[in-house]
Amino acid sequence: MSEDFYSHSKIYDLMFPGSGPAVEFYRAQAERQGGTVLELGCGTGDKLIPIAADGRPSVGVDLSAQMLAEAERKAGERGVAVEWVQGDMREFDLGRTFDLVFIAANSLLHLHEAASLASCFESVRKHLAPGGRFVFDVFNPSVGLLSDADGVRRTRESLSFVDPDRGDVSVDVAEKYDAADQVTRGTWHFSTAAEPDFVVVPLEIRSIFPQELPLVISLGGLQLVDRFGDWSGQPFTGTSALQLCICESA
Ligand SMILES: C[S@@+](CC[C@H](N)C(=O)[O-])C[C@H]1O[C@@H](n2cnc3c(N)ncnc32)[C@H](O)[C@@H]1O
Repeated sequence: MSEDFYSHSKIYDLMFPGSGPAVEFYRAQAERQGGTVLELGCGTGDKLIPIAADGRPSVGVDLSAQMLAEAERKAGERGVAVEWVQGDMREFDLGRTFDLVFIAANSLLHLHEAASLASCFESVRKHLAPGGRFVFDVFNPSVGLLSDADGVRRTRESLSFVDPDRGDVSVDVAEKYDAADQVTRGTWHFSTAAEPDFVVVPLEIRSIFPQELPLVISLGGLQLVDRFGDWSGQPFTGTSALQLCICESA
């Protein structure tokens, strides 16, 4: 993987220091299913390390060597055993099945083509044990927010953080929505007062609209059995922030 957003795993963890309700949701899914767990796009292990710490045999797959190295370091620090595998969620073969497969925090939206999503879902289906579940969360695209993505660089106050080595870091983002591809193409700028733009990286995220979501899932031989709109399990509506999807083999 060339230098991109996920080459900077420590910056990622400082900017997104972990989300309690999401971790608890996925832990509860793992508890409900029992048995083994596979996370695709596991990043630095925000969700998977707590699940493995509960005693569940866990495998994490990610494309980024830097994110995996940080995950391994954090798991080692906590004395938690996880099998970390560098791989591509679009097509993978781990040679075994799992009781829970999940993809958290919009990681799925790095797959831009419908064919990539279908191929990922097909690989997921092959890795589901009998009675296994596939769970993922993606944002619910808001037409208003997408149309705000006008290419202008703006500071995102809510994302600023303190880097122990650099001090206060501000985050600017310029992004534009490509409606034909349903992809928001962004450039992220990280700056301190002493070092403006010390990291500048692209980030491209697809939108999956509510009506197309069950269709792409079905292309991989899966079916959507439930869709929640938030971490507390409220039903999905047009104004929900999330599409939190529970799938099984069709
Ligand atoms: C938004 S981060 C989420 C990380 C983690 N799941 C979490 O909840 O904190 C997205 C992750 O997906 C990974 N990723 C992107 N494309 C991928 C692909 N095709 N296969 C596997 N991982 C991928 C990135 O390297 C990154 O670690």
